[in-house]
Amino acid sequence: MEVVIKQDYEQMSKAAAEIVSEVLNTKPNAVLGMATGSTPLGLYQELVRLHKEEELDLSRVTTFNLDEYVGLPVNHPQSYHYFMHEHFFKHVNIPLHNINIPSGTTSNYPAFCQWYEERITECGGIDLQILGIGSDGHIAFNEPTSSLSSRTRLKTLSEQTIDDNARFFERREDVPVYAITMGVGTILESRKLLLVASGKSKAPAIAQAVEGPVTSMITASAIQLHRDATVFVDEEAAAELTMRDYYDFIYNAKPAAPKS
Ligand code: PGA
Repeated sequence: MEVVIKQDYEQMSKAAAEIVSEVLNTKPNAVLGMATGSTPLGLYQELVRLHKEEELDLSRVTTFNLDEYVGLPVNHPQSYHYFMHEHFFKHVNIPLHNINIPSGTTSNYPAFCQWYEERITECGGIDLQILGIGSDGHIAFNEPTSSLSSRTRLKTLSEQTIDDNARFFERREDVPVYAITMGVGTILESRKLLLVASGKSKAPAIAQAVEGPVTSMITASAIQLHRDATVFVDEEAAAELTMRDYYDFIYNAKPAAPKS
């Protein structure tokens, strides 16, 4: 795992966007896994800027979002459908039919979840999965004790996640209790993982995910099992990492590895 510590949110977002744009330069028809939440907003803004000002082309990209609240229609301002269109999709040139977001209003959740998994496979799998992290250590809505082999399914949100997300709703009671989410197993099958975290509220979860044991209590720790995972954090989110000098040395000095 590579850990990249940037001074602030803006620099972290730009560095993470650079990874996405490198993937797209190498593979213009890449399949991208998208995340919602406040953290990836800066990354999306930078991708929009690269698209508008530096000709980053997304016309052959396919996307799969990680999760969606159950019960919110696509036009609900707090639905992840709405979020993605407002903050990203309407500003870039990804064809609408290439955009996949779990349905929060399907009549048959098990069938939909299975279809979503099959659709990912049909599209060749996810090349790069963008991830945030919850203060309870979740990735997507894989709350503590989620199986590390889980697939797309319904999940009950933890009290901590409901508290964290209540800021976006008028009342805490309005936060949906269920979500449909890709599983940890689904996420680990992506060819590359890019996790972004910012702010001091994320420092304990980041330390546990990066340096703690792999445990379903902190589902983000499962990224330790992945061969190509990069964690981008700002100074505040990095505050509880014990190996930060080592991460900085690797990233900044880029010591040349022996050739044979
Ligand atoms: P946030 O959410 O970026 O809004 O903090 C992250 C997450 O819950 O995955």
